[in-house]
Formats: sequence, structure tokens, C-alpha cells
Amino acid sequence: MNVFVAGGAGYIGSHTVRLLLEAGHEVTVYDNLSEGHASSVPVARLVRGDLADLDTLTAAMRAKPYDAAMHFAANCYVGESVTEPQKYYVNNVSNALNLLRAMRAADVGKIVFSSTAATYGTPVATPITESHPQQPINPYGRTKLMFEQALADYSRAYGIGYAALRYFNAAGAAPDGTLGEDHDPETHLIPLVLYAAMGKRDQVSIFGTDYDTPDGTCVRDYIHIYDLAQAHILALEAMRPGDRRTYNLGNGSGYSVREVIDTAAKVTGREIPHNEAQRRPGDPAVLVASSEKIVRELGWKPRFPHLESIIETAWRWHREHPDGYGD
Ligand code: UFG
Repeated sequence: MNVFVAGGAGYIGSHTVRLLLEAGHEVTVYDNLSEGHASSVPVARLVRGDLADLDTLTAAMRAKPYDAAMHFAANCYVGESVTEPQKYYVNNVSNALNLLRAMRAADVGKIVFSSTAATYGTPVATPITESHPQQPINPYGRTKLMFEQALADYSRAYGIGYAALRYFNAAGAAPDGTLGEDHDPETHLIPLVLYAAMGKRDQVSIFGTDYDTPDGTCVRDYIHIYDLAQAHILALEAMRPGDRRTYNLGNGSGYSVREVIDTAAKVTGREIPHNEAQRRPGDPAVLVASSEKIVRELGWKPRFPHLESIIETAWRWHREHPDGYGD
């Protein structure tokens, strides 16, 4: 297939682009490089552009006969979405709708969308299945849910096919050590723990030790970036016009913040300096996925289901690229 990948130079996008190419698909990456890294994708496939610029976007999408789009070009920080909601509503909703406009103008009928566990809000049942109520508790989750709703309406009215993949906690790096996580600022737990191991940060803070969990710290379901990228290929290849699919993506095992720190200490053989801090607003105590649906329907089979192997690949990336992509 010929695939138009918005946000393909970001963390999850770049890994997916690599797997798309390995699977024999044609790829164009459309990215404004505000958070992505040009060197994480093949240079000849990169078109620098913004979703806000509808004319450039539509022209890029009309330049070739694309079979499908993928949408990774969103902002993704829960905390920032609370203090800067406008950024999230403008980019994750308004600019994202431009992608749907351009798809209609260019007659592209399928899309794989990066959705999130944050659309569920505080779980009323664990593990979370796709039919769990969606009641997001922060602007980030609300903007992602709004786009899911737009996709459903576009699908009913215009017949587009879509798969909304609701990610839990993406982590890890390409097994060969050549692609990895490089956010600025970094807010995610696993890279911050590894920065503390490397001495790039003095320590990592544990946000809250009084949650109703076995050791008092938050529990999350970590999924390897390779397995997450692979799910996009499966969803793309299975999709038919008019499909409305949603899939959770996690491993079904929860690990606490303390367990992440302990596992990272074991993997790296280093001490992880840490301190205990206040809860971070907007954090549910436990988020664990049921990914049975994608296993059953698409045959998804994670290659790195264990936290240790997720951290091992991340550690290799950070050790070999202490300054990330260096851009
Ligand atoms: N945490 C710490 N210290 C840190 C950073 C994080 O204790 O320095 C804790 C958080 O409080 C949380 C856990 O580690 O309990 C994981 O935090 P991350 O920031 O790594 O990830 P989140 O669970 O907040 O966010 C992830 C995705 C979001 C998505 C969300 C779904 O990054 O895009 O899951 O709720 F919205």
C-alpha cells in the first residue's frame, strides 16, 4: 500500500514507518519536525509540513495515489494539556480535522489513528476492554476522544475505514539500537529512570506513594514500541472501507513505579537515585489493558511483552545515544 504518515518522524511514527517499509509498503512522512526528528526517517520520504496548513497538506496528499493515512501528529502530554488546553484543542482536534478534509479531497479512504488509554479516564473495571466507558479526565484524553468521534461520524457519512489504536504506555527502543525515544522536555517514566541511571539527571521523582496499589505507587501497562508499531501494520492491512475498529494496546500486566525503578536497576546494573514526591494531578492509580481483541481479531503477538526486555532496549538506545538524535 501507499501510506501517508502524518507525524511519522516522532517516537511512535518513526518506528511504524520503519516497519511499514520492511513490510513492503510505500511511505511518505508528513511532519513539521516540531517534536519529530528528521534523522529518524529516510530523508527522501520526508515532506516538511504542518497539519494547520491545509493547502500544503492537501497538495501533499494529492501528490500520489495514497491508499491510507496514519495519524501520529498530535501533542501527548497530560499535564501540559491541563495548563495549555488551547494547544491541544487546536492541534489534536482542529488541525487533525484538516487531515480528514485533505483525505476527502484526495480520495484517501482509510486511516489508522493513535488514540490513547487516556480516553477512558478513571477505570471502573480492570483490565480495561474497548467497551469500557470513555470518560476522560483531562483535555488530552478529551481531544483524542473527540477525534475518535469525528472518525466514527465520517465513517458513517462518507464511508471511510478507520482503526483507532488506544495505546497504554509506549516504551523501549528499536531492538538494533538505531531508533529510540527523544522528547524535549522528557516527562515519561522509563527514559527519566534511565537518565538517572546514566547521571544525566540527578534523580527521578516518584509521583505519589499513597495510591491504593500494592506498594503505593501508580501501576501502568508498558508496551514495547516495536509491538505497538507492528499493531499499526496489522490494523492497516486488515482494514476494509467503512470499517470502524478500536483496539487497546498493552500487555495486560501492570507494573508500579517502584517496580520500574527496581527493574531498571537490575537491567543497568546501576543504582537509580530517586526521591518521593507529591502525586501528579490527573494520574489514575492503575491503568492496565485487555488487548485480547487485537490478539483475537488480528493475530497481534507481542515480541517484547516483559518489562525487562522493554527496558533493555531503551537502555541500549540511551547508552549509545546520550544526546538522543542530537538535533
Ligand atoms: N512518573 C513518576 N515520575 C516521573 C514520571 C512519571 O513517578 O518522573 C509516574 C507517573 O505518575 C505515572 C507513571 O510514572 O504513574 C507513568 O508516567 P508516564 O508519564 O511515563 O506515562 P503516563 O501514564 O502519564 O502517560 C501515558 C502516555 C500518555 C497517555 C497516558 C494514558 O504517555 O500519552 O499514558 O493515561 F495519555
